[in-house]
Amino acid sequence: MTVTATQKVRLLLIGVGNVGRRFLDLLVRKRDTLCDRLGLELTLTGVADTSGVAIRPSGLDAQQVVQLKVEGQGVAAYPRWGQSGVSAFEMVRTTEADLLLEASPANLEDGQPGLSCIEAALSRGMHVVTANKAPLVLAFPRLLDLSRVHGVRLCFDATVAGGLPAVNLGRRDLAAADIHRLEGILNLTTNYILTRMAQDGLSYDEALAQAQAAGHAEADPRLDVEGWDAASKLVILAHSVLDYPATLAEVAVEGITHVSAETLQQAAAEGKRVKPVATAERDGEHYALSVRPTWLEADHPLAQLGPKQMGIVYHTDISGVISAAIVEETPLPTASALLRDVVDIVSSQ
Ligand SMILES: NC(=O)c1ccc[n+]([C@@H]2O[C@H](COP(=O)([O-])OP(=O)(O)OC[C@H]3O[C@@H](n4cnc5c(N)ncnc54)[C@H](OP(=O)(O)O)[C@@H]3O)[C@@H](O)[C@H]2O)c1
Repeated sequence: MTVTATQKVRLLLIGVGNVGRRFLDLLVRKRDTLCDRLGLELTLTGVADTSGVAIRPSGLDAQQVVQLKVEGQGVAAYPRWGQSGVSAFEMVRTTEADLLLEASPANLEDGQPGLSCIEAALSRGMHVVTANKAPLVLAFPRLLDLSRVHGVRLCFDATVAGGLPAVNLGRRDLAAADIHRLEGILNLTTNYILTRMAQDGLSYDEALAQAQAAGHAEADPRLDVEGWDAASKLVILAHSVLDYPATLAEVAVEGITHVSAETLQQAAAEGKRVKPVATAERDGEHYALSVRPTWLEADHPLAQLGPKQMGIVYHTDISGVISAAIVEETPLPTASALLRDVVDIVSSQ
């Protein structure tokens, strides 16, 4: 399949929650920019949520899909083209499209429904852009092989630290560098909780509730607070940037649930900050991977990040120490990371 910058690109979208809905908003908001600047017309030909699907080969109205969700309805209620009882997998298996966007919940048990849908899309010659990390954590080598065999791209910048281009920076800009250490605050919810507890005296429960209300927390917040979300992102960085085939099982994971207000005060009294840090440290041919609440010196780049920030620090042999950070007030930057991967795929055809 060939997509050129002046062609209409047909998209399928799975998941119309915090991220998927904002992506549809972007399709509407950036329509003229994409067309005028890049000669790109993105058309939503299919969308799936738990209610079913809506499929229209000539294009669905993205704004209408968002409106349905705002009204508390599913996409199956889309006039004329909505169908209840049809799965996302069925949509991917049978609908003609150029690119699949995957934004369903991260399911670290078996990766579903995202994993089967991504496999089906790649096998049918569709590019894939995903915000869902679980399929990559469970099957990165297989999915990459599948994309190569079928000559299509698999992009996933949105899976690590929301809108922060942590993956793309590492893969593209550090491609020739040797990274001996990587440190990151890769999960917003845990940084939000620890920072608001330390700075504003919020209780753990209050801070978690606020992170959930802003749409940052996972559907199951235990993935965040017990460290598995950050560990998953570390595994993706290991595969894609460090060229190290890590598994989730080898990450030493410690959550933040036991971090008390007293501990945070003690750290502050010593001029330090407690932050949820994911680390990959080179050890010969391997990397030691960990996620844990970490006492950082106050001048460490990650210590200075506020409650709505995430960041990454790459320690390299030839590119110095590179730090990048993002302020993510809402999941909009994550949706924009999906869009930039779409643009990258289409423009590089
Ligand atoms: N939120 C963030 O800031 C953020 C940042 C980076 C990455 N991510 C990742 O992006 C993905 C989406 O996150 P989110 O916050 O948008 O999640 P969300 O708000 O929970 O939305 C999930 C969407 O997936 C749909 N869905 C669930 N099961 C499905 C199934 N079996 N078939 C089809 N659709 C299904 C839901 O349908 P209903 O609407 O019918 O319930 C909903 O529309 C997750 O993998 C998450 O890890 C999120």
